[in-house]
Amino acid sequence: MIYAVVNTKGGVGKTTTAVHLATMLSRNGKVLLIDGDPQASAASWAAWRRDNQTYTPSPTTTCLTGKAILNEGKALALNFDHTVVDVGGRDASGLRSALLLANKAIIPIGASNLDAAAMADMLEILELAKDYNPNLDVRVLLSRVDPRTKDTKEMLEFLTEQNIAVLKSYVCERVAFRRAIGEGATVFEFGKDSAAIKDIESFFVEVEK
Ligand SMILES: Nc1ncnc2c1ncn2[C@@H]1O[C@H](COP(=O)(O)OP(=O)(O)OP(=O)(O)O)[C@@H](O)[C@H]1O
Ligand SMILES: [Mg+2]
Repeated sequence: MIYAVVNTKGGVGKTTTAVHLATMLSRNGKVLLIDGDPQASAASWAAWRRDNQTYTPSPTTTCLTGKAILNEGKALALNFDHTVVDVGGRDASGLRSALLLANKAIIPIGASNLDAAAMADMLEILELAKDYNPNLDVRVLLSRVDPRTKDTKEMLEFLTEQNIAVLKSYVCERVAFRRAIGEGATVFEFGKDSAAIKDIESFFVEVEK
């Protein structure tokens, strides 16, 4: 299975989602994590993880940008049970390539008006991708959620109007995610915040179905 974690909007949790997904998939198979962002955040995470030496399991990580995500990614993915692509929002051809390569697209999104406004862009790109990759399964993941506000409920209403599938599980804003990523870890290994672990595990169970 090839997963693309995408959103044209920055800072929504794409890299956090991609590295957690790739690591959780690595429990049961060989996993390739493609860092498709020229800023190479996932590759930095992987380098910190290698330095630590105790965090396990780990996906194999490589950096590809633009059309290489599709061309080289397709060939590389044949050697792995699962591939996860972390796509940079600013690399338009990389984003399109990832959506052509993938079986499943996961769109992390925050719950704010700015996120909703940015979604128009994303919906247009998805529409185009589906012309060439009609079986692409697209799911929105509500990310960095603050459960004390009504923003999430409003966002859900907006997404329902847009006819886009939303995962039932969501990931709250928790400091454990930020700290874990900065250590080359996942929330399973660093901080061990049980609420953060529950968030990401529920996401995994639902997305892997
Ligand atoms: N659930 C969360 N709780 C708290 N902080 C989070 C969460 N998810 C992501 N963050 C933090 O928010 C920032 C942006 O997250 P991340 O890098 O995963 O987003 P991104 O969509 O990949 O960003 P970019 O567009 O820059 O690639 C990081 O500092 C990260 O640690
Ligand atoms: Mg990123």
